[in-house]
Amino acid sequence: MPSPTYHANIFCKYLVILGLISLFSILFFYNLAYISSQSLDRNISTIKCQESLLHPKEATTNLSHLMFVLAGSSRTWKNRRTYIESWWRPNVTRGNLFLDMEPSKEFRPWSPTLPPFRINEDFKKLRIYPKLANPVHVRIYRSILDTYRLKQDDGVRWYVMGDDDSLLFVDNIVDMLSKYDHTKKHYIGTFSETIKSNVRFSFDMAYGGAGYALSYPLVKALVTKLDECIERYHFIWAGDQLQSFCLADLGVDVTHEKGFHQIDLHSDLSGLLSSHPTAPLLSLHHFESVAPLFPDMNRPGSVLHIMKAANVDQSRMLQPSICHVRASKWTFSVSWGYSAHIYESIFPRSYLKRPIETFRPWLKGRPPFYMFNTRPVSRDPCEAPHWFFFDSVEQEKERVVTSYTRKFPRNMTSCSFSGNISADPVVSIRVFSPKTAKEGRKVECCDVEYDGADVANMRLRDCRRDEIIA
Ligand SMILES: *[C@@H]1O[C@H](CO)[C@@H](O)[C@H](O)[C@H]1NC(C)=O
Ligand SMILES: *[C@@H]1O[C@H](CO)[C@@H](O)[C@H](O)[C@H]1NC(C)=O
Ligand SMILES: *[C@@H]1O[C@H](CO)[C@@H](O)[C@H](O)[C@H]1NC(C)=O
Ligand SMILES: *[C@@H]1O[C@H](CO)[C@@H](O)[C@H](O)[C@H]1NC(C)=O
Ligand SMILES: *[C@@H]1O[C@H](CO)[C@@H](O)[C@H](O)[C@H]1NC(C)=O
Repeated sequence: MPSPTYHANIFCKYLVILGLISLFSILFFYNLAYISSQSLDRNISTIKCQESLLHPKEATTNLSHLMFVLAGSSRTWKNRRTYIESWWRPNVTRGNLFLDMEPSKEFRPWSPTLPPFRINEDFKKLRIYPKLANPVHVRIYRSILDTYRLKQDDGVRWYVMGDDDSLLFVDNIVDMLSKYDHTKKHYIGTFSETIKSNVRFSFDMAYGGAGYALSYPLVKALVTKLDECIERYHFIWAGDQLQSFCLADLGVDVTHEKGFHQIDLHSDLSGLLSSHPTAPLLSLHHFESVAPLFPDMNRPGSVLHIMKAANVDQSRMLQPSICHVRASKWTFSVSWGYSAHIYESIFPRSYLKRPIETFRPWLKGRPPFYMFNTRPVSRDPCEAPHWFFFDSVEQEKERVVTSYTRKFPRNMTSCSFSGNISADPVVSIRVFSPKTAKEGRKVECCDVEYDGADVANMRLRDCRRDEIIA
């Protein structure tokens, strides 16, 4: 999407060329009447060009343009510290962690590897305070106002909100935000995975734990009306729903981005993380409501582990690539930096896009549960994949090598309806990817090399024109 300044520059060049042509005409004909009629054109072009010099072509959005507004509480900080620490870049990422009260002695002095902490302004003085449905959420919501009042916003284009248990993939967030015009009002996030949550709260809001972004002009408009809005909606329980109401009344509705994840889910996320949409991964959340992301690891350990891959190439994080071995009738699929599968049948991408339902919904009740289609967990050897999980990442001169290893046996016979060739001997899968970042929504194809040994190699590459992944 070319920026408006790009058009202005083209326009300016066009006028300069016109100006030069008219100048040559003048020298050539030396006709006074002609000069006076043409100088008007030149004056217009001078004015236009002076305008574009006053507003030179802007730098593309980078990490320094983002102000992170992170909300936590002193009570939960002990168990959640790893989540923020794993993605925060000291002296690079800008922002603050807002707490309800001073953190306890065990955290002092405050570590420089963390965002500085701030205590939210005491808002008990607000007239509406006694009537608030959920003062905790209102405190968290007012972190936007508290951030604005710190006057640290020099050069800031976006506020990015997150909780203390949100894992943010900041390079991808920068990449995603750079598609939008930060001088306009934007509210960018996503809804919950669970249909019932969206029915109860709203389909039309950005869930707070998933993280969301507000362009700076929208922040400026919001802060002048924020307390007034809290008063108008004092009966609203959820802070992120309150936010969507305040912004709706300012004339701004949410824009959905698929890479944010509220994770309103329970149990095992592996099925979901193995079939991520082909869009940059922006966030993960709610680690304490789900099993650790990797088998044989604890929660903080599994978050640090997934960040090892993310620190090398965020553009490919959880990006799926699918390829087939025709001779043995196998399908390989990788979710970069997380898992790899071998199926003993040929499956098309259209089917493998659907996550295997290893997880449970946030709220019990009757289906349908989710905002997306799923595949059931299967005990059929033709349907059930062999699972391999991310083990290591290495950077070579021109490529990156990620390895995925088998953590448990499949315990099934081979798929006799297909090639009847078992993938049990495969112990690990190595995936070779280019060093260059992947474009946001581009699907990458792959080739498999496997000679019957215990390691299979997958090489990611651009898809050929008209290549069918089936
Ligand atoms: C062009 O601009 C100059 C000063 O900037 C002014 O004196 C002149 O009258 C203008 N010419 C026309 C045709 O507007
Ligand atoms: C980010 O953009 C600003 C201009 O707004 C520039 O001064 C700065 O060097 C850029 N930072 C990086 C890391 O590219
Ligand atoms: C951040 O910058 C400060 C001052 O420039 C420096 O003392 C400190 O070591 C830096 N911290 C890290 C973690 O790089
Ligand atoms: C496979 O069998 C082993 C031994 O009987 C058992 O410990 C393991 O849990 C089984 N794995 C799966 C995925 O069913
Ligand atoms: C599949 O392979 C197994 C073991 O290699 C063999 O016992 C079985 O007969 C084969 N099934 C078919 C349908 O070929």
